[in-house]
Amino acid sequence: VELDSILNIDEIEEVATKQISRKAWAYYYSAGDDLMSKKFNNEVYRKILLRPRIFVDCVNCDTSTSFLSHKVKLPIYVSPAAMARLAHPDGEWGIAQACEQYGAMQLISQNASMTPEQIVAGAKEGQVFGWQLYVQTERAKSEAILARMNKLPQIKFICLTLDAPVPGKREDDERSKNIGSNLPVRAAVQEDASVNKTSTDAKAPSPPKSMGVGQSLFWGTAADLTWQRTLPWLAQHTSLPIVLKGIQTHEDAYLASLHAPQVKAIILSNHGGRALDTAPPAVHTLLEIRKYCPEVFDCVEVWVDGGIKRGTDVIKALCLGARGVGVGRAALFGLGAGGKEGVARVLEILKAETETCMRLLGVERVDQLGMHHINARAIERD
Ligand code: FNR
Repeated sequence: VELDSILNIDEIEEVATKQISRKAWAYYYSAGDDLMSKKFNNEVYRKILLRPRIFVDCVNCDTSTSFLSHKVKLPIYVSPAAMARLAHPDGEWGIAQACEQYGAMQLISQNASMTPEQIVAGAKEGQVFGWQLYVQTERAKSEAILARMNKLPQIKFICLTLDAPVPGKREDDERSKNIGSNLPVRAAVQEDASVNKTSTDAKAPSPPKSMGVGQSLFWGTAADLTWQRTLPWLAQHTSLPIVLKGIQTHEDAYLASLHAPQVKAIILSNHGGRALDTAPPAVHTLLEIRKYCPEVFDCVEVWVDGGIKRGTDVIKALCLGARGVGVGRAALFGLGAGGKEGVARVLEILKAETETCMRLLGVERVDQLGMHHINARAIERD
């Protein structure tokens, strides 16, 4: 398939679905229980109306912004998503190449299929990466990973994921567990000698033979993280800014904001619907924060992800107060559709749609976007 003939993110997913293995598809596509949160994530954007202004000069259009003071060309970043090499040998390195081409930020999953050093190899001046951490039961393993991040200048922050202390029940992933190799899937960073050196793997129980990809990646992830214990521990082991991912209520957004400036950003996310099914889409959490604790927006940057498939989705999130939006599956399916060029096509489509949306709304720069550009009454009642 010619990548140029693919016109939108749904078509990218269709093409990738035909090209990647059944097991990879099940892992990427799957979500918790009945996939309700995954469905809501995208549907919620369709209920928000845009309010275009006319008679506005829209020759110029600038999508650039910054995350934690690092300049980027797009308010769209690639969310941390595990095992990109299941889709294509270019893997997370390929995503990095595409992000470089479009000036987009990339968050690297702790469960990436390539090592962080491999992924940032070839990164250009000014390219921005974050490292997503799943704290391990054996803290020494996570401490070794954090030490390694301190040595990679391209990694600008640590993104601690908190919405999945245990994996959600993902039935598609479970169903495909016996397809192909059923060896436990391991994160590349965990395979690496510099991490294993400190581990007590020999004593730790090994995972059962047959598990879905998700279950097997979660093996060893700590479920005992708390505000009181984990943030001070993290501060001891990294001087990088902290981003908390997986905030789903205004209460937790507020608590996170009390930890500024150590916590510099929060990501409103339900993990692409892969953790607790029927947890709210980020848009609902944005509305809650606006209503109950709008000061959060002054203390931390607020990023969102889940269900972003159109430039209009990006713009609506920004109007509601998000600094930027992450794409998870879109990038993985882009990789599946055409390796690094497929991811580049995803970013090209989203950038062009975002620009068209800005022009038709009558806005030149993303910092001009606000609540006056949308009508969210249909979801404010929900
Ligand atoms: C994820 N996500 C995720 N999040 C995280 O913090 N660490 C991880 O390792 C992963 N792994 C992962 C794998 C796959 C296959 C998917 C689809 C997602 C969640 C991800 O960062 C993001 O929150 C969602 O993907 C956003 O939703 P969309 O864009 O996929 O709808």
